[in-house]
Amino acid sequence: MQIVVVGLSHRTAPVEVREKLSIPDQSISESLKNLRIYSDILEVSILSTCNRLEIYALVRDKNIGISSIKEFLTDYSRLNFEELNPHLFDFRQEEAVLHLMKVSAGLDSLVLGEGQILSQVKKMMRLGQENQSTGPILNRLLSQSVSAGKKVRSETNLGTGAVSISSAAVELAQLKIGQENGLDGLVSLKLEKVLVVGAGRMSRLLITHLKSKGCHKLTLLNRNIDRAVNLAGDFPDLEINCKSLNELDESISLSSLVFTSTASEKPFIDLARVENISLNNKLKFIDIGVPRNISNDIKHHAFIKSFDVDDLEEVVSRNQEFRQKIAKEAESLVKDERIIFLEWWASLEAVPVINKLRSDLELIRKEELQKALSRMGPDFSARERKVVEALTKGIINKILHTPVTKLRSPQSREERQASLKIVEKLFSLIDDEKKN
Ligand SMILES: NC(=O)c1ccc[n+]([C@@H]2O[C@H](COP(=O)([O-])OP(=O)(O)OC[C@H]3O[C@@H](n4cnc5c(N)ncnc54)[C@H](OP(=O)(O)O)[C@@H]3O)[C@@H](O)[C@H]2O)c1
Repeated sequence: MQIVVVGLSHRTAPVEVREKLSIPDQSISESLKNLRIYSDILEVSILSTCNRLEIYALVRDKNIGISSIKEFLTDYSRLNFEELNPHLFDFRQEEAVLHLMKVSAGLDSLVLGEGQILSQVKKMMRLGQENQSTGPILNRLLSQSVSAGKKVRSETNLGTGAVSISSAAVELAQLKIGQENGLDGLVSLKLEKVLVVGAGRMSRLLITHLKSKGCHKLTLLNRNIDRAVNLAGDFPDLEINCKSLNELDESISLSSLVFTSTASEKPFIDLARVENISLNNKLKFIDIGVPRNISNDIKHHAFIKSFDVDDLEEVVSRNQEFRQKIAKEAESLVKDERIIFLEWWASLEAVPVINKLRSDLELIRKEELQKALSRMGPDFSARERKVVEALTKGIINKILHTPVTKLRSPQSREERQASLKIVEKLFSLIDDEKKN
């Protein structure tokens, strides 16, 4: 058995490919079910975020397992295998374990050390357990990866002041507006007519960062207007005008800076739509939705500048130098966590031998106890029988404690296998089938 991961991320695929492989929360159960149909996949879990789709699996055979996952991804994306495959990465065993721990720690994120990924790994673990697609191995790997992520954030400064996708989006707006006005660096957004479309988690973060960059007034649009009103209520010192998504065209016509961050599965702003809107300002769109909320053809509009998540790289790389140094420190923490997980897994090798030893000794205990009790006849009360039974159990457990702990303890594979062989031989644990 091996752990493998197959996936794609902002490092290997542009947003136009990533958005074809974004699996929304409501489709995760079905996708996990479809993956479990492959007989080689024993446990499986899906991590789907705006920057990555990764499938972790415990497989019988690594090559067959990886091919099965690639087949699933090809079917899901509706791309040809030849189109998709160059964007996919795969890792096996130690590398797969290390990769997940790095992801969880934010070391593989576009914005190094960002915090959102840790909650997404937690969600992946919860969904795997709820759908019973994960078992002892992946559950342990996932919980150890969450611990690795927490440890990196508490023991290094990687997460301190880390920018997020939302803050990078706001910075990109500042940068572009500055460049347009011949200014270097990040300008205030005080004079911008800001529109935010969507009222979820990302929009909340967008508004927080907009506020810190000088914006004091904005329009907030959402399909469900009550949610927009609720969100606006959390920013009492901002003037937020809440509207329904039906008022999108009019709101765009009055704006100079539009952020879109909805979970819509299809773009709802395209060239044809904006060509019918009379624009009163120079307009910038910043779309952090994946799948994108704004169609790519908007880039052909003469007076609109449009950016998506892949364009955030420009601002993110400006902030990374300091973080790269801390990332090195974080990587060694993550490697330690990988060793702990792999040692735990290796220790599982001892489980069948320990179980056999326990059950053989239990058989002897029961037989001997039975003999002794029948010799005592009816003079022995029920309470006395219980005491003797507990005594025999206690003796067996005490005798087993040291060898079992030693067999499970961290050691090289060769060392453990040698000890297991000795135990099997001394206690005649090898069954007849195995001997032949
Ligand atoms: N979470 C992250 O770390 C992260 C990071 C970067 C980018 N993103 C991307 O940002 C987007 C929003 O993520 P989120 O975490 O803020 O989601 P969220 O908290 O679940 O909020 C979803 C938002 O999308 C709206 N929405 C859903 N389906 C829609 C549709 N068909 N048409 C119009 N609006 C729709 C919802 O409106 P209602 O209230 O009316 O349902 C709500 O405002 C996603 O594309 C995501 O991939 C997320």
